Amino acid sequence: MDISKLRAQTGYITLDDGYGNTGSCESAITFIDGDKGILRYRGYAIEEVAQHSSFIEAAQLLIWGELPTKAERDRFGQLLGENAALPEPMRRHFSSFPPSAHPMAILSAMINALQAYDLPHLKIDTPEQFEVAAASLISKVRTLAAASYKSSIDEALVYPRPDLKYAENFLHMMFSKPYQEYVPTPEVAGALNLLLVLHADHEQNCSTSTVRMVASSQANLYASAAAGVCALWGPLHGGANQAVIEMLEQIEEQGISVKDYVARVKDKTAGVKLMGFGHRVYRNFDPRASIIKKAADALLDKMHIQDPKLELARELEAAALSDDYFTERKLYPNVDFYSGIILKAIGIPIDMFTVMFAIGRMPGWIANWKEIHDNPTARIYRPRQIYTGPTPRPFVERRDRHHGIRS
Ligand code: ACO
Repeated sequence: MDISKLRAQTGYITLDDGYGNTGSCESAITFIDGDKGILRYRGYAIEEVAQHSSFIEAAQLLIWGELPTKAERDRFGQLLGENAALPEPMRRHFSSFPPSAHPMAILSAMINALQAYDLPHLKIDTPEQFEVAAASLISKVRTLAAASYKSSIDEALVYPRPDLKYAENFLHMMFSKPYQEYVPTPEVAGALNLLLVLHADHEQNCSTSTVRMVASSQANLYASAAAGVCALWGPLHGGANQAVIEMLEQIEEQGISVKDYVARVKDKTAGVKLMGFGHRVYRNFDPRASIIKKAADALLDKMHIQDPKLELARELEAAALSDDYFTERKLYPNVDFYSGIILKAIGIPIDMFTVMFAIGRMPGWIANWKEIHDNPTARIYRPRQIYTGPTPRPFVERRDRHHGIRS
C-alpha cells in the first residue's frame, strides 16, 4: 500500500513500532522471502553466490547490479590494491586509543577520520569517482580493522600486500609480524571469503537503514558508512556474533545444562535471550546459517579442532528447535549462531567479530548509498511521530521548582 499521500489527503499518519510493517524504500539490490528462507543478491540465490563468487565479485554484483567481466574484476582489483594502504599520518591515530577501546569504536572513529584524508573521494560526480571511492572504502576498512587489532595488542602495524587476494591480505595484516610472514591455509582463507560473501548485504536491516537515513541528507559515502558501523555494533544486530560466543562461554564456565539455559531463555522475567536465534524477517531457516553451519563443521574438521562450543551450539540448536516456545514463535538460528565458531577457529579475537561483520557488510552499505545518490527524486528520510509528552504548560521559574527531575 502506497501511503505517501495519506497525511495530505486525510490528516492521519501510520504508526509502526520498529518498522515491522513499513517499507522504507524501493530497492533493486537484495531480495528476501523470510517465510520461505530465500535470500538473493541481484536475483542470484545466495547458495550459488556463496559457492562460486569471491567476496569482491559479490561486492561488484551488489554495487553495480551485474556479475563483473574479467576486465571489470581486474580493474576493480587494481583499484583495491592502489587504495589498500592507510595514509601514513593516519597510522599515528591508533596510538591515541586506550588499549581497552573496543575495535568497533576504533573502526567507526577511523572511518570518520578517513574523510579528512580521502578528501578527493568525498565528492562524487562521475561513475569513475564513485568506483574509486567504493574501492578505497572496501579496501581500507580491512586495513583499518587489522590495524585496530595490532594496535590493541601493541604490535607494529603491518602494511597491505597488493599481490594478495582480499581475505588473504586481511589475514596477512592481522597475523603477520615484521619478522614473520603469516600464510593462511586455503581452507582458512576460503572460510573467511565465504563469511564475507554471506554478510555482504541483507536489505533494510538496522545498519543499512541507518546508512540510507544518513545518505538521504546527502552526507558522503564515508560518513554514511561510519554511521552503519555504529548501528551494526548493537547486540541485537551485528554484535550478536560476539554475544553468541560469550553466551556459550558463560554456559560452559558456569556448568549450566542446555535444558536449564533454555528454561532461562523461556522465563521472560530472566531477561535472557538465546543469542543467534530469531530474526525480524526470517520466520524459517536463515539460509546463511545453514551454509555457515556446514562450513564450520568442514573447517574444524580440516583443522583438527575439537571445539566444545560447536558441540554446545549444536545441542542448544537441537533443544530449541524441538521446543514449543521457539517453534511457535518461528525462532531459528540466524547468521550469527555459527559464524563465531568459524571466526574463532581462524584466530580472530572475540571482540573483533563484529568488525568482521562490518568488513563484510561494506558492499551492501555502499550499494544502498549508491541507490540514494543515483536517484534524482530521492527525498530526505524524515519519519513522523506520535507525541506522548505533556500538554502545553507555563514555564516554572527556578525559585518555584519544588519537584526535581527524579522526584
Ligand atoms: N531468544 C528468546 N526469545 C526470543 C528471541 C531469542 N533470541 N528472539 C525473539 N524472541 C521472542 C520474543 O521475546 C518475542 O516473544 P513474545 O511474543 O512472547 O513477546 C517473540 O520471540 C518475537 O520476537 P520479537 O522481539 O518481536 O522479534 P523482533 O523481530 O523484534 O527481533 C531479533 C528480532 C532482534 C533478531 C530478536 O530475535 C533477537 O533479539 N535475537 C537475538 C539477537 C540476535 O541473534 N540478533 C542477530 C540478528 S541477525 C543480524 O542482525 C545479523
